Amino acid sequence: MSTQTNEIKRVTTHQLQEMKNRGEKISMLTCYDYSMARILDAAGIDVILVGDSASNVIAGHETTLPITLDQMIYHASSVIRAVKRAFVVVDLPFGSYQGNSSEALRSSIRIMKESGAHAVKVEGGEEIKESVIRILSAGVPVMGHLGLTPQSIYKFGTYAVRAREEAEANKLVHDAKVLEECGCFAIVLEKIPAELAQRVTQQAKIPIIGIGAGPHVDGQVLVTHDMLGINKDFHPRFLRVYADLHSVMMKSVKEYVSDVKNKKFPSEGEYY
Ligand code: KIV
Repeated sequence: MSTQTNEIKRVTTHQLQEMKNRGEKISMLTCYDYSMARILDAAGIDVILVGDSASNVIAGHETTLPITLDQMIYHASSVIRAVKRAFVVVDLPFGSYQGNSSEALRSSIRIMKESGAHAVKVEGGEEIKESVIRILSAGVPVMGHLGLTPQSIYKFGTYAVRAREEAEANKLVHDAKVLEECGCFAIVLEKIPAELAQRVTQQAKIPIIGIGAGPHVDGQVLVTHDMLGINKDFHPRFLRVYADLHSVMMKSVKEYVSDVKNKKFPSEGEYY
């Protein structure tokens, strides 16, 4: 007798690697809460990033710098409770891993233990190599992040495209190699020329996920609130807006306000 199960198979780092090997593109979006995570997961997203962009998107800060490790763990555990299939990666926030490798390991272990997430993401290359190796030594998968790294925004001074100059491009190629050799399972490349992203993708054996890095990478990531048109103030060239939720929400809330003011809500059948 055969028993049929509807068990959902979780995405793993191994499967992400297989996707790269067979040329299947990897889909990744940001998420910070339970309700949105349920939708993304049910829609078939491969990777959910609990990004430190929560600092901008959820908390309204100008940069990603203020968000704390406790706040990232809160967001990550909310997402994890909703997810059945997607692989969940959590950003190590600014100041939680750059100091020394013991701190990096301690921060990663807190994320994994307290949220139940599947991996962490770090910004930088050669300069954080020791921390990456230490985190990996505890069996925690690490995703790298190169190019425009928002935690270093005050060093760059601008959110403009990175690595247009040869020296910076060469450093990025070197950093990608370092992260791969350390054992990172994937790397995000943010806002760099498409040709450079293609070069890194061809050289790397691990998956390369792009945001504003062109089509020749192994996968794409966007900030969900931007691609759903909830946040209307952000219009970079690389962003494709798939919905106008800002208008839908504005119209709905205005209608509700009007209904309450005009005593049209609740009506018969909407109370006990
Ligand atoms: O925090 C974030 O949202 C990110 C993506 C932009 C890749 O790091």
